[in-house]
Amino acid sequence: MRYFLPSLAALAATALARTDAMVPLYVYPGNSTWTNPDWAAAVSAIKANPSVHFYVVVNPNSGPKNTSDPTGFNGGYCSADGDPNYIPHGCNRDWTTHLAAINKLKNAQTLGYVWTQYGLRDADDVRADIAEWAAWDRAPTWTAGETADISIHGLWFDEVGKDPNNQTTYLDLVTYANETFAESKNEKRKTRRSNDDDDDYTVVLNAGPVANATYEAQLFRMASAVVTKETCYTTDAAAHNATWDCPAPYAPFAYASLTAGNGLPHDSAFLPQTVVIVHQFVGPPVATMDTLQEQIDGVVGLGLHSTYFTGGSWHQTTVAPATIGNVGKLLAQANGAARSGLPGYGLGLVGWIPLICCAFLNLQAYSYY
Ligand SMILES: *[C@@H]1O[C@H](CO)[C@@H](O)[C@H](O)[C@H]1NC(C)=O
Ligand SMILES: *[C@@H]1O[C@H](CO)[C@@H](O)[C@H](O)[C@H]1NC(C)=O
Ligand SMILES: *[C@@H]1O[C@H](CO)[C@@H](O)[C@H](O)[C@H]1NC(C)=O
Ligand SMILES: *[C@@H]1O[C@H](CO)[C@@H](O)[C@H](O)[C@H]1NC(C)=O
Ligand SMILES: *[C@@H]1O[C@H](CO)[C@@H](O)[C@H](O)[C@H]1NC(C)=O
Ligand SMILES: *[C@@H]1O[C@H](CO)[C@@H](O)[C@H](O)[C@H]1NC(C)=O
Repeated sequence: MRYFLPSLAALAATALARTDAMVPLYVYPGNSTWTNPDWAAAVSAIKANPSVHFYVVVNPNSGPKNTSDPTGFNGGYCSADGDPNYIPHGCNRDWTTHLAAINKLKNAQTLGYVWTQYGLRDADDVRADIAEWAAWDRAPTWTAGETADISIHGLWFDEVGKDPNNQTTYLDLVTYANETFAESKNEKRKTRRSNDDDDDYTVVLNAGPVANATYEAQLFRMASAVVTKETCYTTDAAAHNATWDCPAPYAPFAYASLTAGNGLPHDSAFLPQTVVIVHQFVGPPVATMDTLQEQIDGVVGLGLHSTYFTGGSWHQTTVAPATIGNVGKLLAQANGAARSGLPGYGLGLVGWIPLICCAFLNLQAYSYY
């Protein structure tokens, strides 16, 4: 009966596969008296769904060096002479206060936004942004005398070029990023208590569908995860004044119409590294909690790395039904169901231990006789 053991291990591995949340939280977090509701909703959703890991892409303004501060602090830069809010790494106290709140949450991981302009942006500028993200460490918050952890735990490369000729450029950039973050982590360790380490580090490439399967495989191999689809759900973007958010021509999202090479990787071995992101989850077609659940269950059923659904554009977290709270809740449910193998009946990790243990004991007993 020993030959059953590997399949049991495979079953356990499948059971533990999980689809997490990849949140492009490209909003200004707030100021001393005010927190952006979109940012606050993200913090609440992360707290409410501890079984889901939330990758939170932070983006002061197409990167770490400019800021979209609505009050005009620092004139759009993350630094300004004589400004008491100036923080060398971390823009200003609004950023550092709210970013530290996310870093405190165990199931959240901050990723820095890196703009690459489809391989057209100057590589030195891209490297400068990567180095800046790696340098974010501890910084003052709005609480007098307090500093908090604003470190960044990976990168989101946006507008990744689809031309196979771009391969060396991205390989160089990701290699540089990995080295720079590793060096910076070592530096930070020297100045921290030894229990202050957080080893999370993730590199995501937002490429969308890549026609050339060889190049696509190269992208998957150089990164932790690759976005193969970012599109809208609604079939009528114009009705929602959202054509700018759903550049034509686009195929409205439905998990069931994702195919290898168009929304999913050519090679299914990369599914556990695949990310899909859906904007404008509004009708038509029907956009209710039920249809949201159907889509999220479908994405989880594909065994993808992570996903995100939003009722508005990429940065909106409070437009129903696809609020970040609902998306977190439905992901947690769908992951639980996928683990138990019974739709709607999540056993969770604890539930599996007796099953695996007892199945194993049974096999042992059988092989004994
Ligand atoms: C904070 O930002 C909000 C939104 O832009 C603005 O209404 C408010 O006046 C700002 N508060 C301060 C103290 O700057
Ligand atoms: C940051 O702002 C400066 C000054 O406006 C501008 O030259 C630069 O292109 C901006 N960088 C990005 C990444 O938008
Ligand atoms: C990436 O590919 C685009 C499209 O072919 C090209 O214009 C650009 O120069 C390439 N960039 C690099 C750095 O290879
Ligand atoms: C795909 O890209 C590879 C290089 O990564 C190249 O050798 C091959 O010719 C490309 N295939 C097509 C069909 O363009
Ligand atoms: C960069 O780091 C990521 C995350 O650890 C890893 O998956 C990837 O293989 C690394 N890429 C390179 C080129 O070293
Ligand atoms: C449509 O969207 C654009 C871009 O966000 C915005 O400037 C404009 O005010 C919107 N119009 C309406 C009628 O909502």
